[in-house]
Amino acid sequence: MAEATLRVFRGGPDGGRAVDYSVPVAPGMVVLDALHSIQAHQAPDLAVRWNCKAGKCGSCSAEVNGRPRLTCKTRMDSLPRDKPITVNPMKAFPIIKDLVTDVSWNYEVNRKIPPFTPRPDVEWKMQQRDLDRVQEFRKCIECFLCQDVCHVLRDHDKKPQFGGPRFFVRVAGLEMHPLDGVSRTGLLKDTLGIGLCNITKCCTEVCPEDIHITDNAIIPLKERVVDDFYDPLHWLSRKLRRTRP
Ligand code: SF4
Ligand code: SF4
Ligand code: FES
Repeated sequence: MAEATLRVFRGGPDGGRAVDYSVPVAPGMVVLDALHSIQAHQAPDLAVRWNCKAGKCGSCSAEVNGRPRLTCKTRMDSLPRDKPITVNPMKAFPIIKDLVTDVSWNYEVNRKIPPFTPRPDVEWKMQQRDLDRVQEFRKCIECFLCQDVCHVLRDHDKKPQFGGPRFFVRVAGLEMHPLDGVSRTGLLKDTLGIGLCNITKCCTEVCPEDIHITDNAIIPLKERVVDDFYDPLHWLSRKLRRTRP
């Protein structure tokens, strides 16, 4: 049977090293299968997070050959075998052990976002075309690969000032919902720091659900922030609305 070498990060918060494992490769195998083979036959203490092995739970995120990916959706036969396949934990989050990172910061960001709030006296009737727009954002599996690749978090570690692409997707799903009545543009501007995003589109490139994060979520949200806070006519009309008796 053909063999592949996996170069896997082993260690914890205080550091670690890359360890090479030789793994037999069967047809149809994915990187998560190879990690399970290492656990079963060579390193039972290798820490790997996974749940569904079907690309739906978002747990098995890691960096394979330097690219953020779901290990359960990355086929071994899609990777060059002439050199070791590197498998590292997501760089943007603190390491707990081996390939498992602490992603709890994301849940703190999520808690800051006001949930769906219907407009008062709303008529519960929606057009399919309005729902099609938000449906895309509901496909998110919270794998946090987009957060991992975003340079604002990955290289500049601006977690206190920035929410990250996953949460722009969540806010877009709420802001563009035809029945929602809450404005989250102030939150986007001040708390989630959408202005720090410079539309590099790296997040869109790694999304396993093919959500067009930049074009369909971030850019329309940036336009709403500009309308609400930097367009003088918009600003005046809001002020008049507020001061109206
Ligand atoms: S487009 Fe914005 S959110 Fe996406 S990776 Fe680039 S800077 Fe980050
Ligand atoms: S938007 Fe895509 S890449 Fe980001 S967390 Fe959701 S599914 Fe993952
Ligand atoms: S194990 Fe669920 S997405 Fe990979």
